Parts: sequence; structure tokens; C-alpha cells
Amino acid sequence: MNIFRTRQALQTYLDGPRKATLRIALIPTMGALHEGHLSLLKEAQQIADIVVCSIFVNPTQFNDPGDLEKYPRPEENDLRLLQEIGCDVAFLPSVEEMYGPAEEPWHLDLGNLEQVWEGEKRRGHFQGVTQIVYKLFRLVEPDIACFGQKDFQQVMVIQRLIELKKLPVRLHIVPTVRNEEGLALSSRNMRLSEVGKRKALVLYRALNHIKRHFKDHDLNILRQEALDILHQEKEIDIEYLAICETRSLQEIDRIDPAKNHVALLVAWVEGVRLIDNMLLD
Ligand code: PAF
Repeated sequence: MNIFRTRQALQTYLDGPRKATLRIALIPTMGALHEGHLSLLKEAQQIADIVVCSIFVNPTQFNDPGDLEKYPRPEENDLRLLQEIGCDVAFLPSVEEMYGPAEEPWHLDLGNLEQVWEGEKRRGHFQGVTQIVYKLFRLVEPDIACFGQKDFQQVMVIQRLIELKKLPVRLHIVPTVRNEEGLALSSRNMRLSEVGKRKALVLYRALNHIKRHFKDHDLNILRQEALDILHQEKEIDIEYLAICETRSLQEIDRIDPAKNHVALLVAWVEGVRLIDNMLLD
């Protein structure tokens, strides 16, 4: 595996595959890699010739400096995992490498996507995400970019970035990886006790209920039924549960057959914020 820390070194390396018209896939990450990331890598290996994984804890997407500082950076382990899975290129730039002293101000019109759900909870977060992903896209010029469905709103934001900037990148959405019982894998799960993990399964049950009855129940009643399922588990705090149209993430109370739909759910278990979703069509 090639490991690069500067843009220059990465670009020089990528000139070769580009000239040979090899398909390049990019997987942007912030490191602390787990099974979910590895599933992105495995998919990318199926559909591209060269897989580039970037590891960069992006300061502009954090609104709390404490969170940024505490963010795990297990570089050695990440590189070992990438090596084992056969990733072609790991790109680990410094903050100075990605953000110059005279950085242009960045703003992208993300419309409703920035006003609702994660956008509302984490003001400015998606501006930071699009800023760094755009920089990575310009640098790597990938044919394909792989993102996990787990962060559904982020995926829709990246789709908007690609459209607004007219980038020749195909967005490949990789389904959420779940454990055998249905819990969506996330680095946050490590902070749950065994009891907490069992409690957290109720998220999957509630989402499955919505999926199963999406076509045959009134959506307001269906949402209430899913909330009742969630409330069966004590000591779970529900932050939001919404049935939305996928592109704008506008909440709906009637199905539009011309559109796709998703159920979004965030709940707290043992002080851990769990985020999950399910595509409904
Ligand atoms: O999902 C993440 O890990 C980050 O938001 C991303 C896409 C790597 C941008 O920093």
C-alpha cells in the first residue's frame, strides 16, 4: 500500500493510473476505521481499479473544539487495517496540507438539507463536510466516491455537492452494516455496555416496522406505532423519528409514488447518540 501525506505526492502517483484510464475510487474517512468503513473498501475494490482511502479529521466540520480534540486518531491500527484489506493508497494529510493560511470562504447552498435533522442539530457541520470533500474530489478526481448509507443525510449532501459543482463523480452508496441482531455498526457502539447494545436493537425493530407497513398504513399512525415500539424499551431517549422524502429530507404525511422515502431515527442509549435509517421503497 502506498502511503502519502502531501497533495503533491498523491497527485504525482495518481497521474499514472489516470493516464492508463484506470477507474479510481475514493473513500473519504476520518479514521478510527471499523467494519462499516471496511465494507466501503470491499465494495470499492469490486467496482474500481485503484482504491484511495483518505484519513483526515476535518476541523471545519466540528462545531465543538473539545470534540475535535477528543476525536480518536488510531493511525497505526487504521493503516494496518487498510494494508490487510489491500487498499491501494492511504492519504493522511495534515491540517496545514488541506487548509492554507489564505483559505477562500466556503458556502454551498444546501437548501433544506442544512436546515433539518443533523443540519439543525449541528450548525455549519455540512458546510465543513462539503468543503473538505470538494477539496478531496478536486485532488483525487475519482470516478467513484463511496459513502455509507448509515449517514444518510451526509450522502444526500454529497449528492447535492456533486450536482452543484457539476463534478464527474459517481456516488456509490453502500448499505449500512449491521451486527447479527440488526444493530447498525458504528464506532460509538464501543461505548455501549452489553445491556445497552440489547436495548439499542429497538431502533432496528422500529425502523423495520415502518418499512413493513409503509405502503399500507397512514403515515402519522405508522410513526406513532414506531414510537410506541421505541418506548417499550425503558431508558431510551428519542431525539427524532421522521419519515421523509429522500432528496430534500422533508417530512411527509403522504407517499409520493414518484419519489423515494426514508425513515430517519436518532436516539440516545446510555449517553450514546445512535443514528440509524432505513430506505422504505
Ligand atoms: O463521514 C465522515 O467520516 C466525514 O464526514 C467525511 C465524509 C470523511 C468528511 O470529513
